[in-house]
Amino acid sequence: TLAAVAAGCGSGSGSGGTTLGFSQVGAESGWRTANTQSIQDSAKDAGINLKFADAQQKQENQIKAIRSYIQQHVDVIAFSPVVESGWDTVLKEAKDAKIPVILTDRAVDSKDPSYYATFLGSDFVEEGKKAAQWVIDTYKNSNETVNIAELQGTTGSAPAIDRKKGFSDLISADPKFKIVASQTGDFTRAKGKEVMQAFLASHQKIDLLFAHNDDMALGAIQAIEEAGLKPGKDIKIVSIDGVHDALQALVDGKENYVVECNPLLGPQLMDLVKKIKAGQPVDHRIVTTETTFTPEQAAAALPSRKY
Ligand code: AHR
Repeated sequence: TLAAVAAGCGSGSGSGGTTLGFSQVGAESGWRTANTQSIQDSAKDAGINLKFADAQQKQENQIKAIRSYIQQHVDVIAFSPVVESGWDTVLKEAKDAKIPVILTDRAVDSKDPSYYATFLGSDFVEEGKKAAQWVIDTYKNSNETVNIAELQGTTGSAPAIDRKKGFSDLISADPKFKIVASQTGDFTRAKGKEVMQAFLASHQKIDLLFAHNDDMALGAIQAIEEAGLKPGKDIKIVSIDGVHDALQALVDGKENYVVECNPLLGPQLMDLVKKIKAGQPVDHRIVTTETTFTPEQAAAALPSRKY
């Protein structure tokens, strides 16, 4: 990865302008691919020289990339932290080197707010709540137990922690909702399928699946179909992101509800980089605006969906 950092993917002029070092989580999902594309395209549009490294979902790779950006004296460092904890040492190194840091998409649990200039990204607790609210509304006229399986995102990541919390906080108010199985599928399609297969093998009755992202839901859909069941009917499915394939699954009746998480953070990120470099004040937390999709809304959104 150091080689990847050194090679970067310089897209700006390189001389005299602004250089941004960006450490990406990986390429685990459709959401992430769209996020990377947005960052690379908007850096080009903004004339910012982007050094980009893919950490392949490993914190140690992100720390190496950040240290390399510090050594290269980039103007601003941005990263999407794969997990929440364990960043204080490297964030202090950036602070000591007077290089401002922007968190994008995911949070860190550092107690010192001066370690980063701003955090741009979704409210993941809210996303979990939106998924839960749909579940509550769907079963409002029934008193029967609803057995829920949960596919969690990457263990220790902000979206996995927060989405679980938001969802559980709301559904726990009604004892008819029971989370009977909950495991990580690491935000990937392959793991989502594998874990869903295991859930189906060990649980007689699953009424509903809550997947922390679309890719795991799409993998689970394959597992459900291979088990001879109908996704969206025998097992209702709600997931988070809003990528093209999940909206298509909604239209096809294989999913029931999708909560949007916006990956197109590039333009806002580049604005922040410019402001911070110019010494202008920025908000310490910037929450992105998001919607939700029923099958009808997905049908309307699909033709113009870019990712
Ligand atoms: O941090 C955002 C999450 O990361 C997305 O929901 C998921 O698809 C991605 O892997």
